[in-house]
Amino acid sequence: MSLPVVLGLDLGTSGLKAVALDAAGRTVAECTHGYPLFTPRPGWTEQQPADWVNAAAVALKELSLALAALKAVPAALGLSGQMHGLVPLDPRGEVIRPAMLWNDQRTEAQVRDTELCVGRRELVARTGNRAVTGFQLPKIIWMRDEEPELYARLRHALLPKDYLGYVLTGQMATEPSDASGVGALNLAHNVWDAEVLGALDLNTDLFPAIHASTDVTGHLTPQWAQALGLPAGLPVVAGGGDNAAAGIALGLTAAQPQIGSLSLGTSGVIFAPLRSPTPDPEGRVHLFAHADGGFHLLGVTLSAAGSLHWLREKLAPATSIEELIDEAASVPPGAEGVSFLPYLAGERSPLMNPQARASFSGLSLAHGRGHLVRAVLEGTAASLADTYDVIRPLAPLERLLSTGGGARSDLWLGLVSGALGVPVASARDRPGAAHGAAILAMPAGGLHSDLQAAMAATRPGPGDAVPPQEMKEALAQYRQVRRALYPAPDALPSNLPQGATP
Ligand code: XUL
Repeated sequence: MSLPVVLGLDLGTSGLKAVALDAAGRTVAECTHGYPLFTPRPGWTEQQPADWVNAAAVALKELSLALAALKAVPAALGLSGQMHGLVPLDPRGEVIRPAMLWNDQRTEAQVRDTELCVGRRELVARTGNRAVTGFQLPKIIWMRDEEPELYARLRHALLPKDYLGYVLTGQMATEPSDASGVGALNLAHNVWDAEVLGALDLNTDLFPAIHASTDVTGHLTPQWAQALGLPAGLPVVAGGGDNAAAGIALGLTAAQPQIGSLSLGTSGVIFAPLRSPTPDPEGRVHLFAHADGGFHLLGVTLSAAGSLHWLREKLAPATSIEELIDEAASVPPGAEGVSFLPYLAGERSPLMNPQARASFSGLSLAHGRGHLVRAVLEGTAASLADTYDVIRPLAPLERLLSTGGGARSDLWLGLVSGALGVPVASARDRPGAAHGAAILAMPAGGLHSDLQAAMAATRPGPGDAVPPQEMKEALAQYRQVRRALYPAPDALPSNLPQGATP
């Protein structure tokens, strides 16, 4: 008897993960292949789309060999990946220049111009977001401003996972969850916003057609099928941006908006499902389409575990993260006056300020390494609390499921829970975006009748909530320093010049 499985790909920033799942969501096979990230100038981040394609080829080949040995037969493949990147293609579908990524900060001038041209409130009302340096739209305008010869050849702007889909099937397509991270999707109508784009002198036909996340947008070409050992004509499903796909894997749905997620990875992310597209009018958190047809808010503090890894690398390279966290556990709440603003890579929510910078404060001769680590854990929790202050009136969250490397520390999760005042369920090895991509492919593969049935069959258990930790003093200290260095979230600086806010 052969076992039907679905495949899911997550085109991440450090590597591509491929998984095969059975109908119950169990991992039948998985593998990951890495690729380099290039920073040709400070603030620029790029990757070669050919590296993604090679990684996908190696990973899918490995997966197909493992599946053959298990007598498992792939029925469909779903895509997910890093959001916001620009893969610029010429009229023949050839890549014009390396892809610019979600964490690239080169587009400040274009963000300013876009908000002057369209107006921040108008942008937020239509697209759910203000102009953001990492999004795809300002990258296109940057090419027009800075690389006019390359821009003259630009015919198609694809997102990273959609480029991979194009290579595998020959069809260009996208879906709402990733498309809403471009900066030009009219969220209420699910179409490219011709007026926003027109105001910027751009055309909607630069972007691919928008399908539902569970739609089949193409079939594996015979050449790829042969090279990979996968069935020719394998249906390829549109899938979702990595955050939406990870939400699907956790069973998060707009139909149950009281359950969201907290991810403590390089960045710290709060994901809050929503039934209708209700943005923060200031755009201090993102509003994106969810892959289940609903919507979600996304609050992103850019350096969470990233801050802890930075501290370890600079101060204690021979000490493990676990030992450092143990040292922090023996320091009292509030780190005896030390606080940390985690803006090592600038900040998204709620400051939305790529120029923001990190700082330690309150240090004395009496403080040691454990205080610094505790301040980092408390500072990231406090930054997420700032973000949650914006989310709270918009989303009915009652519980957060934790994911990401930081979720291994109950102390850290407890600090975030204490700072937000929301129960946070601890988690070991929760499934990620590649699983979500595979679940989105289950209806097309015939493993379940629709997405709701697929999510019901694969939803992980709720997990036990960690005990919340005391954060009162740490929050007060953090907010005092943050207010001194950056205005309060209710009067946040815009990235527009003074007086230019529409
Ligand atoms: C979300 C974001 C990141 C990327 C990279 O807005 O920028 O989560 O999707 O994974």
